[in-house]
Amino acid sequence: MKVLVIGGAGYIGGHVARLLSDRGYAVDVVDNLSTGSTRNLFPEYGFFRGDILDYPWLAGVVAKGSYGAIIHLAAAKAAGESMLVPEKYSTQNLCGTINILNAACEAGVERIVFSSSAAVYGEPRYLPIDESHPKEPENYYGFTKLEIERILAWYDRLKGIKFAALRYFNAAGYDPGLRVRGLEKKPANLIPVIMEVAVGIRKSLDVFGVDYPTPDGSGVRDYIHVSDLALGHLLALEYLEREKKSITVNLGSESGLSVLKILETARRVTHRPIPSVISPRRPGDPATLVASSALAKTVLGWEARHSSLETIIETTWAAYAAQESTPLA
Ligand code: WQD
Repeated sequence: MKVLVIGGAGYIGGHVARLLSDRGYAVDVVDNLSTGSTRNLFPEYGFFRGDILDYPWLAGVVAKGSYGAIIHLAAAKAAGESMLVPEKYSTQNLCGTINILNAACEAGVERIVFSSSAAVYGEPRYLPIDESHPKEPENYYGFTKLEIERILAWYDRLKGIKFAALRYFNAAGYDPGLRVRGLEKKPANLIPVIMEVAVGIRKSLDVFGVDYPTPDGSGVRDYIHVSDLALGHLLALEYLEREKKSITVNLGSESGLSVLKILETARRVTHRPIPSVISPRRPGDPATLVASSALAKTVLGWEARHSSLETIIETTWAAYAAQESTPLA
Protein backbone atom coordinates (compact mmCIF):
# COMPACT_ATOMS: atom_id res chain seq x y z
CA MET A 1 0.00 0.00 0.00
CA LYS A 2 1.17 3.53 -0.75
CA VAL A 3 0.78 5.99 2.11
CA LEU A 4 0.96 9.78 2.06
CA VAL A 5 2.56 11.12 5.26
CA ILE A 6 1.66 14.79 5.60
CA GLY A 7 4.15 16.43 7.94
CA GLY A 8 6.56 13.56 7.25
CA ALA A 9 9.69 15.72 7.58
CA GLY A 10 8.75 16.62 11.15
CA TYR A 11 9.79 15.07 14.41
CA ILE A 12 7.00 12.52 14.80
CA GLY A 13 6.18 12.31 11.08
CA GLY A 14 9.82 11.53 10.26
CA HIS A 15 9.75 8.56 12.60
CA VAL A 16 6.40 7.38 11.22
CA ALA A 17 7.58 7.59 7.59
CA ARG A 18 10.80 5.72 8.43
CA LEU A 19 8.95 2.86 10.15
CA LEU A 20 6.37 2.51 7.36
CA SER A 21 9.11 2.40 4.75
CA ASP A 22 11.04 -0.17 6.84
CA ARG A 23 7.91 -2.32 6.92
CA GLY A 24 7.47 -2.30 3.17
CA TYR A 25 4.98 0.51 2.62
CA ALA A 26 5.62 2.88 -0.27
CA VAL A 27 5.88 6.33 1.32
CA ASP A 28 5.26 9.79 -0.08
CA VAL A 29 5.79 12.84 2.11
CA VAL A 30 4.16 16.26 1.96
CA ASP A 31 5.81 18.94 4.09
CA ASN A 32 6.33 22.69 3.83
CA LEU A 33 9.57 22.40 5.87
CA SER A 34 8.45 25.23 8.16
CA THR A 35 9.45 23.14 11.17
CA GLY A 36 10.45 19.86 9.53
CA SER A 37 13.93 18.93 8.33
CA THR A 38 15.18 17.38 5.10
CA ARG A 39 17.44 15.32 7.41
CA ASN A 40 14.33 13.26 8.21
CA LEU A 41 13.69 12.41 4.53
CA PHE A 42 15.11 9.45 2.61
CA PRO A 43 15.73 8.91 -1.12
CA GLU A 44 13.19 6.09 -1.28
CA TYR A 45 10.33 8.47 -0.39
CA GLY A 46 8.47 10.62 -2.88
CA PHE A 47 8.69 14.17 -1.54
CA PHE A 48 6.32 17.03 -2.33
CA ARG A 49 7.26 20.34 -0.76
CA GLY A 50 4.25 22.55 -0.30
CA ASP A 51 1.56 23.79 1.99
CA ILE A 52 -1.66 22.05 2.97
CA LEU A 53 -3.31 25.48 2.91
CA ASP A 54 -2.77 25.59 -0.89
CA TYR A 55 -5.82 23.49 -1.75
CA PRO A 56 -5.42 23.19 -5.54
CA TRP A 57 -1.82 22.03 -5.08
CA LEU A 58 -2.69 19.61 -2.27
CA ALA A 59 -5.69 18.16 -4.11
CA GLY A 60 -3.43 17.58 -7.14
CA VAL A 61 -0.84 15.69 -5.07
CA VAL A 62 -3.50 13.55 -3.36
CA ALA A 63 -5.34 12.84 -6.64
CA LYS A 64 -2.22 11.66 -8.48
CA GLY A 65 -0.85 9.33 -5.79
CA SER A 66 -3.32 6.40 -5.65
CA TYR A 67 -2.89 6.39 -1.88
CA GLY A 68 -4.36 3.67 0.30
CA ALA A 69 -4.19 5.99 3.30
CA ILE A 70 -3.13 9.42 4.52
CA ILE A 71 -1.34 10.00 7.81
CA HIS A 72 -1.81 13.62 8.85
CA LEU A 73 0.71 15.12 11.28
CA ALA A 74 1.02 18.65 9.88
CA ALA A 75 -0.02 21.01 12.67
CA ALA A 76 1.04 23.85 14.90
CA LYS A 77 1.53 22.34 18.36
CA ALA A 78 2.61 24.91 20.94
CA ALA A 79 -0.19 25.05 23.50
CA GLY A 80 1.00 28.35 25.03
CA GLU A 81 1.30 30.05 21.63
CA SER A 82 -2.22 28.92 20.70
CA MET A 83 -3.61 31.13 23.50
CA LEU A 84 -1.81 34.17 22.07
CA VAL A 85 -2.24 33.55 18.33
CA PRO A 86 -5.40 31.47 17.94
CA GLU A 87 -5.70 32.59 14.29
CA LYS A 88 -2.60 30.56 13.42
CA TYR A 89 -4.13 27.44 15.00
CA SER A 90 -7.50 27.97 13.31
CA THR A 91 -5.84 28.26 9.93
CA GLN A 92 -3.09 25.68 10.21
CA ASN A 93 -4.91 23.01 12.20
CA LEU A 94 -8.60 23.44 11.33
CA CYS A 95 -8.44 24.76 7.74
CA GLY A 96 -5.40 22.59 6.95
CA THR A 97 -7.15 19.41 8.06
CA ILE A 98 -10.36 20.30 6.23
CA ASN A 99 -8.30 20.72 3.04
CA ILE A 100 -6.79 17.28 3.56
CA LEU A 101 -10.20 15.70 4.14
CA ASN A 102 -11.68 17.37 1.09
CA ALA A 103 -8.71 16.32 -1.04
CA ALA A 104 -9.16 12.75 0.28
CA CYS A 105 -12.85 12.84 -0.71
CA GLU A 106 -12.01 14.11 -4.20
CA ALA A 107 -9.36 11.45 -4.71
CA GLY A 108 -11.33 8.61 -3.09
CA VAL A 109 -8.81 7.99 -0.26
CA GLU A 110 -10.75 6.12 2.39
CA ARG A 111 -8.42 5.97 5.41
CA ILE A 112 -6.80 8.65 7.51
CA VAL A 113 -4.65 8.49 10.64
CA PHE A 114 -4.75 11.74 12.57
CA SER A 115 -2.38 13.11 15.23
CA SER A 116 -4.60 14.08 18.10
CA SER A 117 -3.42 14.95 21.58
CA ALA A 118 -3.88 14.47 25.30
CA ALA A 119 -4.59 18.21 25.22
CA VAL A 120 -8.22 17.35 24.29
CA TYR A 121 -8.86 16.31 27.91
CA GLY A 122 -7.83 19.46 29.78
CA GLU A 123 -7.39 19.39 33.57
CA PRO A 124 -7.54 15.72 34.66
CA ARG A 125 -10.62 14.72 36.70
CA TYR A 126 -9.12 11.30 37.44
CA LEU A 127 -5.98 9.30 36.65
CA PRO A 128 -5.01 7.47 34.56
CA ILE A 129 -6.87 9.28 31.79
CA ASP A 130 -8.85 6.94 29.55
CA GLU A 131 -10.63 7.83 26.31
CA SER A 132 -13.98 8.47 27.98
CA HIS A 133 -12.51 11.10 30.32
CA PRO A 134 -14.34 14.46 29.89
CA LYS A 135 -12.99 16.53 27.01
CA GLU A 136 -12.59 20.13 28.15
CA PRO A 137 -9.43 21.51 26.53
CA GLU A 138 -7.62 24.19 28.55
CA ASN A 139 -5.95 25.73 25.51
CA TYR A 140 -6.96 26.59 21.96
CA TYR A 141 -4.51 24.04 20.54
CA GLY A 142 -6.37 21.24 22.35
CA PHE A 143 -9.67 22.69 21.17
CA THR A 144 -8.54 22.48 17.51
CA LYS A 145 -7.60 18.81 17.98
CA LEU A 146 -10.97 18.01 19.54
CA GLU A 147 -12.85 19.86 16.80
CA ILE A 148 -10.94 17.92 14.16
CA GLU A 149 -11.88 14.64 15.86
CA ARG A 150 -15.52 15.73 15.59
CA ILE A 151 -15.14 16.71 11.94
CA LEU A 152 -13.54 13.33 11.24
CA ALA A 153 -16.57 11.60 12.79
CA TRP A 154 -18.85 13.57 10.42
CA TYR A 155 -16.75 12.71 7.36
CA ASP A 156 -16.92 9.08 8.40
CA ARG A 157 -20.71 9.29 8.65
CA LEU A 158 -21.27 11.33 5.50
CA LYS A 159 -18.42 10.29 3.21
CA GLY A 160 -17.34 6.91 4.57
CA ILE A 161 -13.77 7.99 5.39
CA LYS A 162 -12.49 5.79 8.21
CA PHE A 163 -10.15 7.43 10.67
CA ALA A 164 -7.85 6.59 13.55
CA ALA A 165 -7.39 9.52 15.94
CA LEU A 166 -4.29 8.94 18.08
CA ARG A 167 -4.18 11.00 21.26
CA TYR A 168 -0.48 11.32 21.99
CA PHE A 169 0.77 12.08 25.47
CA ASN A 170 4.26 13.67 25.74
CA ALA A 171 6.25 12.56 22.69
CA ALA A 172 9.97 12.14 23.42
CA GLY A 173 13.15 10.32 22.35
CA TYR A 174 14.72 9.63 18.93
CA ASP A 175 15.09 6.64 16.64
CA PRO A 176 17.48 4.25 18.47
CA GLY A 177 19.30 3.74 15.12
CA LEU A 178 19.63 7.55 14.86
CA ARG A 179 18.42 7.61 11.29
CA VAL A 180 15.74 10.22 11.98
CA ARG A 181 17.53 12.99 13.78
CA GLY A 182 16.43 16.39 12.51
CA LEU A 183 16.25 18.45 15.68
CA GLU A 184 13.30 20.69 16.41
CA LYS A 185 13.94 24.38 15.97
CA LYS A 186 13.23 26.51 19.07
CA PRO A 187 11.72 23.71 21.14
CA ALA A 188 9.56 24.53 24.17
CA ASN A 189 9.13 21.01 25.53
CA LEU A 190 11.03 19.83 28.57
CA ILE A 191 13.42 17.20 27.19
CA PRO A 192 14.68 19.14 24.13
CA VAL A 193 15.09 22.22 26.35
CA ILE A 194 17.20 20.16 28.77
CA MET A 195 19.30 18.95 25.81
CA GLU A 196 19.80 22.50 24.55
CA VAL A 197 21.15 23.38 28.01
CA ALA A 198 23.41 20.31 27.89
CA VAL A 199 24.96 21.38 24.56
CA GLY A 200 25.22 25.05 25.59
CA ILE A 201 22.51 26.59 23.36
CA ARG A 202 20.72 27.72 26.54
CA LYS A 203 22.25 28.70 29.86
CA SER A 204 19.87 26.90 32.23
CA LEU A 205 16.58 25.05 32.58
CA ASP A 206 13.65 26.78 34.26
CA VAL A 207 11.90 24.19 36.41
CA PHE A 208 8.31 25.39 36.28
CA GLY A 209 7.16 24.78 39.86
CA VAL A 210 8.31 22.48 42.66
CA ASP A 211 5.21 23.02 44.80
CA TYR A 212 2.84 20.64 43.01
CA PRO A 213 1.10 17.85 44.94
CA THR A 214 3.46 15.26 43.41
CA PRO A 215 6.13 13.08 45.13
CA ASP A 216 8.98 15.58 44.52
CA GLY A 217 6.86 18.70 43.94
CA SER A 218 7.62 19.00 40.20
CA GLY A 219 5.21 18.30 37.33
CA VAL A 220 4.55 14.70 36.33
CA ARG A 221 3.90 13.66 32.71
CA ASP A 222 3.55 10.53 30.62
CA TYR A 223 6.49 10.48 28.18
CA ILE A 224 6.06 8.19 25.23
CA HIS A 225 8.94 7.32 22.92
CA VAL A 226 8.47 8.50 19.35
CA SER A 227 9.31 5.01 18.02
CA ASP A 228 6.41 3.66 20.09
CA LEU A 229 4.20 6.39 18.64
CA ALA A 230 5.34 5.44 15.14
CA LEU A 231 4.34 1.82 15.77
CA GLY A 232 0.92 3.07 16.92
CA HIS A 233 0.41 4.64 13.46
CA LEU A 234 1.38 1.45 11.68
CA LEU A 235 -0.98 -0.64 13.81
CA ALA A 236 -3.74 1.93 13.33
CA LEU A 237 -3.34 1.65 9.54
CA GLU A 238 -3.55 -2.12 9.76
CA TYR A 239 -6.63 -1.80 11.98
CA LEU A 240 -8.39 0.48 9.48
CA GLU A 241 -7.64 -1.93 6.66
CA ARG A 242 -8.77 -4.94 8.63
CA GLU A 243 -11.78 -3.65 10.56
CA LYS A 244 -12.99 -0.91 8.21
CA LYS A 245 -14.15 1.20 11.13
CA SER A 246 -12.92 4.30 12.91
CA ILE A 247 -11.16 4.42 16.25
CA THR A 248 -9.89 6.95 18.78
CA VAL A 249 -7.16 5.87 21.23
CA ASN A 250 -4.64 7.21 23.71
CA LEU A 251 -0.97 6.51 23.12
CA GLY A 252 0.92 6.87 26.39
CA SER A 253 3.41 4.89 28.46
CA GLU A 254 1.06 4.72 31.48
CA SER A 255 3.87 5.84 33.78
CA GLY A 256 4.42 9.27 35.30
CA LEU A 257 7.86 10.95 35.36
CA SER A 258 8.66 14.17 37.19
CA VAL A 259 10.65 17.11 35.84
CA LEU A 260 13.30 16.67 38.57
CA LYS A 261 13.68 12.95 37.85
CA ILE A 262 14.19 13.66 34.14
CA LEU A 263 16.71 16.38 34.92
CA GLU A 264 18.67 14.08 37.23
CA THR A 265 18.70 11.29 34.60
CA ALA A 266 19.79 13.73 31.88
CA ARG A 267 22.72 14.92 34.03
CA ARG A 268 23.80 11.33 34.60
CA VAL A 269 23.46 10.23 30.96
CA THR A 270 25.05 13.31 29.38
CA HIS A 271 27.79 13.88 32.00
CA ARG A 272 26.99 17.58 31.64
CA PRO A 273 26.08 19.83 34.60
CA ILE A 274 22.76 21.16 33.09
CA PRO A 275 22.21 24.14 35.42
CA SER A 276 18.61 24.70 36.53
CA VAL A 277 16.62 27.47 38.18
CA ILE A 278 13.46 26.90 40.22
CA SER A 279 10.84 29.11 38.58
CA PRO A 280 7.13 29.81 39.14
CA ARG A 281 4.55 27.40 37.77
CA ARG A 282 3.73 27.84 34.07
CA PRO A 283 0.09 28.92 33.72
CA GLY A 284 -2.23 26.14 32.57
CA ASP A 285 0.09 23.26 33.59
CA PRO A 286 -1.69 20.47 35.49
CA ALA A 287 0.29 18.72 38.26
CA THR A 288 0.04 15.23 36.78
CA LEU A 289 -0.97 13.71 33.44
CA VAL A 290 -0.82 9.95 32.97
CA ALA A 291 -2.56 7.90 30.27
CA SER A 292 -4.45 4.68 30.30
CA SER A 293 -3.45 2.95 27.05
CA ALA A 294 -5.56 -0.12 27.72
CA LEU A 295 -7.69 0.46 24.64
CA ALA A 296 -4.69 0.72 22.28
CA LYS A 297 -3.35 -2.50 23.77
CA THR A 298 -6.60 -4.42 23.36
CA VAL A 299 -7.75 -3.07 20.04
CA LEU A 300 -4.50 -2.36 18.20
CA GLY A 301 -2.23 -4.82 20.01
CA TRP A 302 0.05 -1.84 20.72
CA GLU A 303 2.54 -1.71 23.55
CA ALA A 304 5.19 0.85 24.52
CA ARG A 305 8.59 -0.85 24.23
CA HIS A 306 11.05 2.03 24.07
CA SER A 307 9.55 4.37 26.66
CA SER A 308 11.77 3.74 29.68
CA LEU A 309 13.28 6.98 30.98
CA GLU A 310 16.78 5.69 30.18
CA THR A 311 15.95 4.94 26.55
CA ILE A 312 14.19 8.26 26.08
CA ILE A 313 17.10 10.27 27.48
CA GLU A 314 19.85 8.18 25.85
CA THR A 315 18.31 8.35 22.36
CA THR A 316 17.60 12.08 22.67
CA TRP A 317 21.13 12.72 23.87
CA ALA A 318 22.52 10.69 20.94
CA ALA A 319 20.67 12.98 18.52
CA TYR A 320 21.89 16.19 20.23
CA ALA A 321 25.45 14.93 20.65
CA ALA A 322 25.56 13.97 16.94
CA GLN A 323 24.42 17.47 16.00
CA GLU A 324 26.99 18.98 18.36
CA SER A 325 29.82 17.13 16.61
CA THR A 326 28.53 17.76 13.05
CA PRO A 327 26.42 20.93 13.15
CA LEU A 328 24.13 21.78 10.26
CA ALA A 329 25.53 24.29 7.80
C1 WQD B 1 6.48 18.91 30.55
C2 WQD B 1 6.75 19.24 32.01
C3 WQD B 1 6.35 21.55 32.53
C4 WQD B 1 9.59 23.11 29.99
C5 WQD B 1 2.89 19.99 25.84
C6 WQD B 1 1.59 20.48 25.29
C7 WQD B 1 0.71 19.32 24.97
C8 WQD B 1 1.45 18.31 24.09
C9 WQD B 1 2.78 17.95 24.62
C10 WQD B 1 1.19 18.37 21.73
C11 WQD B 1 5.70 20.18 32.62
C12 WQD B 1 7.82 21.20 32.69
C13 WQD B 1 8.71 22.28 30.65
C14 WQD B 1 10.56 23.83 30.75
C15 WQD B 1 9.71 22.79 32.75
N1 WQD B 1 1.68 18.83 22.78
N2 WQD B 1 8.76 22.13 32.01
N3 WQD B 1 10.59 23.63 32.11
O1 WQD B 1 3.16 20.98 28.76
O2 WQD B 1 3.11 18.52 29.34
O3 WQD B 1 2.65 19.26 27.05
O4 WQD B 1 3.52 19.12 24.91
O5 WQD B 1 0.26 17.61 21.61
O6 WQD B 1 -0.41 19.78 24.37
O7 WQD B 1 0.95 21.31 26.23
O8 WQD B 1 4.93 19.37 27.85
O9 WQD B 1 7.37 19.37 27.64
O10 WQD B 1 6.17 21.59 27.80
O11 WQD B 1 6.29 20.12 29.82
O12 WQD B 1 9.78 22.67 33.98
O13 WQD B 1 11.37 24.62 30.22
O14 WQD B 1 7.98 19.96 32.07
O15 WQD B 1 5.93 22.43 33.53
O16 WQD B 1 5.55 19.78 33.97
P1 WQD B 1 3.41 19.59 28.37
P2 WQD B 1 6.24 20.16 28.21
